[in-house]
Amino acid sequence: GALGLDLGTSGLRALLIDEAGQPVGAAERAYGVAHPHPGWSEQDPADWIAALEAVMADLAARFPEAMAGVRGIGVSGHMHGATLLDAAMTPIRPCILWNDTRSHAEAARLDALPGLRETSGNIVFPGFTAPKLDWVRRHEPEAFARVAKVLLPAAFLNLYLTGRAVADMSDSAGTSWFDTGRRDWSDALLEAGHMRRGQMPDLVEGSDPAGTLRPELAARWGIGPGAVVAGGAGDNAAAACGTGALAEGQGFVSLGTSGVLLAARDGYRPDPGNALHTFCHAVPGRWYQMGVILSATDSLNWLARISGQSPADLTRALGEDLQAPGRVRFLPYLSGERTPHNDATIRGAFTGLGAETGLPDLTRAVLEGVAFALRDCAEALRGAGADLGHLLAIGGGARSDYWLRLIATVLGVPLQVPAGGELGAALGAARLGRVAASGAAPETEMTPPAIARTVAPEPALADAFEEAYRGFRAAYPGLKAIQ
Ligand code: XUL
Repeated sequence: GALGLDLGTSGLRALLIDEAGQPVGAAERAYGVAHPHPGWSEQDPADWIAALEAVMADLAARFPEAMAGVRGIGVSGHMHGATLLDAAMTPIRPCILWNDTRSHAEAARLDALPGLRETSGNIVFPGFTAPKLDWVRRHEPEAFARVAKVLLPAAFLNLYLTGRAVADMSDSAGTSWFDTGRRDWSDALLEAGHMRRGQMPDLVEGSDPAGTLRPELAARWGIGPGAVVAGGAGDNAAAACGTGALAEGQGFVSLGTSGVLLAARDGYRPDPGNALHTFCHAVPGRWYQMGVILSATDSLNWLARISGQSPADLTRALGEDLQAPGRVRFLPYLSGERTPHNDATIRGAFTGLGAETGLPDLTRAVLEGVAFALRDCAEALRGAGADLGHLLAIGGGARSDYWLRLIATVLGVPLQVPAGGELGAALGAARLGRVAASGAAPETEMTPPAIARTVAPEPALADAFEEAYRGFRAAYPGLKAIQ
């Protein structure tokens, strides 16, 4: 069996799987995010360890046999976080998280350096790791001087589990210190960020062993001796392992608070100009690309909040059949946008309101606006050569059939709805643990879930949505001009 640990932004989830790869049991513990100043977002690594010890005690009590059979462990973590360690491998200050924007000036400086985007494959976003260290260098020089290692959150758990500072390629690619094509630290980028290679963890592929579980922990948790800890993954790569998105043509659309359109890639084809993310996959020789929109279900939740209805009531009022787009457009930039605009200050809009416009028209416009923003991501991915042949629909928003039919039609791609059960980052992490322990081929372990049904595009409405999408595209420059 194997164990997957998903170190999320709001809590840690542990998932046990059996010899056949089937879920046995799970445990979760929540922790908080501190915002000591506007734009700051921090966590105390001690809270992660407390949560880890709690979920392991929980699993050890409830599933002692399965725990004794664990041979491999994998960790998935929220990406980009900077955990600064001193020479004794003790955290120097709270971890600065992926959604912390304090280092926007440092990010802009690094992003403008010649060659940086080419090597890292990505825009330097303020949430990425390198600008955070540059911020610490300027604002907390005593702390900066003591930095012996910088670990991403998943690598910090690897250190706790194994005693070794080891990170995987998928997470390391989100630092802006990494050569994403060559799968190695870049000395040039490290130098640009005032860092040294010796301050970085050792690198392994996510599905290769990073070390073995410390005997003291194995004894405490009832895990047999010699359990292997995998390199692990950043959470999006782990989710791709959990959904079986490994090869070109496989991917998913995730309708969560934010929206993600992810495509697995056989080669390295960066396109930072469209604000696409290009990162190493958690298995050797593969990469993935994703477009991110910042307000997906968040847009519908916003309309629900201000109209005093639930999101389910709002979508139910639209009926079953997909309707052609009306005149109202919605631009879902409630928190700015990443792909394709990379614009933190833009805000959303309704256009085309008439005296006859009612709440259902606004609901439709909101669902359509999110679909059009995902189409922007699809255009960016296709522009980089990605094949969007098979997309799974996951996340809370995928419960709305209307929304899925709409997105399938706007993207021109059938959407596969999983039959249910586990498919997230924790499963992907457990699968990485299994592969690291067994040496099996990743492709045989990381298979797609059973599909309940496929939602097809509606060809009769394709032209109408194409025209509406052109209107959506045309609105951004005008919106930009008045803000
Ligand atoms: C990816 C990103 C988030 C974090 C937190 O670039 O910032 O998906 O990994 O989940």
